Amino acid sequence: LRDGLLADIATADTLDAVEALRVGALGKSGVVTGLLKTLGAMTPEERQAKGPAIHDLRESVTAAITARKAALESAALDARLAAERIDMSLPAQPVPQGSVHPVSQVMDELAEIFADLGFSVATGPEIEDDWRNFTALNIPETHPARAMHDTFYFGDNARATGGDGNPAAMLLRTHTSPVQIRTMMNEAPPIRIIAPGRVYRSDSDATHTPMFHQIEGLVIDKGITLGHLKWTLETFLKAYFERDDLAIRLRPSFFPFTEPSVEFDASYSLVNGQRVLGGNDGFMELGGSGMVHPNVIRACGLDPQEWQGFAFGIGVDRLAMLKYGMNDLRAFFDGDLRWLRHYGFSA
Ligand code: PHE
Repeated sequence: LRDGLLADIATADTLDAVEALRVGALGKSGVVTGLLKTLGAMTPEERQAKGPAIHDLRESVTAAITARKAALESAALDARLAAERIDMSLPAQPVPQGSVHPVSQVMDELAEIFADLGFSVATGPEIEDDWRNFTALNIPETHPARAMHDTFYFGDNARATGGDGNPAAMLLRTHTSPVQIRTMMNEAPPIRIIAPGRVYRSDSDATHTPMFHQIEGLVIDKGITLGHLKWTLETFLKAYFERDDLAIRLRPSFFPFTEPSVEFDASYSLVNGQRVLGGNDGFMELGGSGMVHPNVIRACGLDPQEWQGFAFGIGVDRLAMLKYGMNDLRAFFDGDLRWLRHYGFSA
């Protein structure tokens, strides 16, 4: 019995097999336990004769099991250490790296260009009140821009206090111009700010998305003229498109919050049929601007006799498309990595 048990234990090749042998020998109904139980029924003489051999059997089986378990455990550890060894000579796995989205990148570039011209960055909330988005900007109740089909309004139970202290309907701002109002009401002139951010209009096709980006510019100071506006637009567009031969053209236009109002165009050249900013093959429209309307200055609590200024607004997405040669506005907001990679924006 003894030799058989010891041989089995020595050749058991898993911890489970050793445990099964332990139960078979030393468990409650194991063979060795069975032998130990027979001692109780023996006469003292028999017990003296057979007892030591049985006890000795139990001890050597126990010792063999302990030894076998230890051997198997250390073999398992060795195997794991060998398997988990790190090969320092293998090339590292590439780690995918993100990048700044083209729209954010353009807004950063613009902030830098305007910082050189003495402008700081101002912000306002995307959920605006009707007074700051329209009324204070001299947009009367009847103006078509207020119609439901352009503006996303919140329900009647979302009314808040407008900038004039009266109850106002809440909406998603339709342009960055309410930041003009916020800045004039919160800061003493002279003012030189740009305000980049998201704006919303109920519109969607290849060149319109319901959410898009604008950048607003506002200067309020003494003795400001249209000449300052033209110089500022020209200087920033030359810097942004990195073209000294970029010319700008102002065309009379209408915005309720500027008087006079002008739309500004930039010159382009044709390269393989593509319009590239700069040169003199033609002009393309870029944005709206003008001298801040006296009613707007007054609505913000300033005296239009003392303070004048200019404002402008441009689509940031358009500026990004023109600089990087992209053609579908909707692709900007799909988050498709293949598209971003194509334009060199993501690893
Ligand atoms: N807010 C106008 C728009 O969204 C643009 C603009 C801004 C025009 C400032 C004049 C002055 O179209």
